[in-house]
Amino acid sequence: MEESQVKDKSLAQQGHLQIEWASKHMPVLKLIRNRFNEEKPLKGLTLAACLHVTKETAVLVDALIAGGAKIALCGSNPLSTQDDVAAALADKGVHVFAWRGQNTEEYYRCIDKVLDYKPTVTLDDGADLVGTLHSKRQSELKNLKGGTEETTTGVIRLRAMERDGSLKYPIVAVNDAYTKYLFDNRYGTGQSTIDGILRATNILLAGKTFVVCGYGWCSRGIAMRAQGLGANVIVTEVQPIRALEALMNGLRVMPIAEAAAVGDIFVTATGDINVIRKEHMQKMKDGAIMANSGHFNVEISIKGLEELSNAKRTMRPNLEEYSLKDGRKLYLLAEGRLVNLAAAEGHPSEVMDMSFANQALSSEYIAKSPKMQPKVYVVPKELDEKVAELKLKSMNIMIDELTDEQKKYLSTWEMGTT
Ligand SMILES: NC(=O)c1ccc[n+]([C@@H]2O[C@H](COP(=O)([O-])OP(=O)(O)OC[C@H]3O[C@@H](n4cnc5c(N)ncnc54)[C@H](O)[C@@H]3O)[C@@H](O)[C@H]2O)c1
Repeated sequence: MEESQVKDKSLAQQGHLQIEWASKHMPVLKLIRNRFNEEKPLKGLTLAACLHVTKETAVLVDALIAGGAKIALCGSNPLSTQDDVAAALADKGVHVFAWRGQNTEEYYRCIDKVLDYKPTVTLDDGADLVGTLHSKRQSELKNLKGGTEETTTGVIRLRAMERDGSLKYPIVAVNDAYTKYLFDNRYGTGQSTIDGILRATNILLAGKTFVVCGYGWCSRGIAMRAQGLGANVIVTEVQPIRALEALMNGLRVMPIAEAAAVGDIFVTATGDINVIRKEHMQKMKDGAIMANSGHFNVEISIKGLEELSNAKRTMRPNLEEYSLKDGRKLYLLAEGRLVNLAAAEGHPSEVMDMSFANQALSSEYIAKSPKMQPKVYVVPKELDEKVAELKLKSMNIMIDELTDEQKKYLSTWEMGTT
């Protein structure tokens, strides 16, 4: 079997340095790695991972190997692989099949290569591994002990599979751990999305009208950071409670049809399809910029944009100019793929430290659980709290403990007004 396939093996040295830099900022995963190295809880497992191939993922891979697992890795997005990191992983002997700029056929071919290793556990980001196993490789489903899922869109799909009875093995929804989505989706996506927009455009955000589609965990992080840089933020939503939250956080709220006419920059992070459509682009100002940070490149209608345009050129890396038939120019970042990974480096290592600690502990949980049902599991509360505890400790932050009196007070109902 082919050992690995990456863009350029000569990038390995740079990749090793990147991984070393990330690992310095991932203390929780380091602790788990050291324990795994002694206890080998993953011995005997073959892991197939479909994750963004970044320096932080390389640190996770190292921890999983220390735990005794065999692993094969492919990218979870055609445009998010860091080629130097992929080269370094291949240099370490990891079976990695990933490079930046894959077409759809290459992307799925790499998924197949990873599945050829006959995994017993899958680690997914967006449910493409699970989807491929359930649609094209069903005879292999019996080998699967369990899996993990990293992102909201993947969890939504897996819950749909569970509902209609088609999910054939258990999956732990890592995304839904508090120590994942409250930090990764909010602060990670918030900072790295702004980072991607700035690297692609180098525009000033202060004073700009910045439209964020969605006010979920990712989108509220993006709105918060854009506001911090002096942008005038507008939120579009479909859920009344979230719209109300945005409003009371001091943001303007309106439908996308209205926001389209006033925005300078538009960012989608909804997990939904065709959030910005042709009819909205028809109203946009000359020079408006669009980017997406949701999992799939379906949130901005690229088809609609192409129908309106008669020419397209690349102005800078990850910045495409569409010339519209009416003379306006509209700009799309990173082909509408998640801008924080395609135009920047994804979430900072400190945040991935917690997400990937959950991945590592959830893999161990699957390894040790005798019989799990084919359904979507939440990360056990003890593991989630352990990650928070270790993270605080690594930052030298102490917190209080309940006194005996407080424990008693909080668990009884007799004491009223005094
Ligand atoms: N870029 C990254 O690194 C990264 C990281 C984590 C998650 N994600 C992805 O980002 C997406 C959002 O994840 P999340 O955790 O914020 O989800 P979420 O469910 O917390 O938030 C999504 C929000 O979008 C809103 N929404 C849905 N359709 C809409 C529409 N047509 N117009 C306006 N708002 C709409 C929903 O009401 C919801 O409030 C998912 O695809 C997820 O997989 C990306």
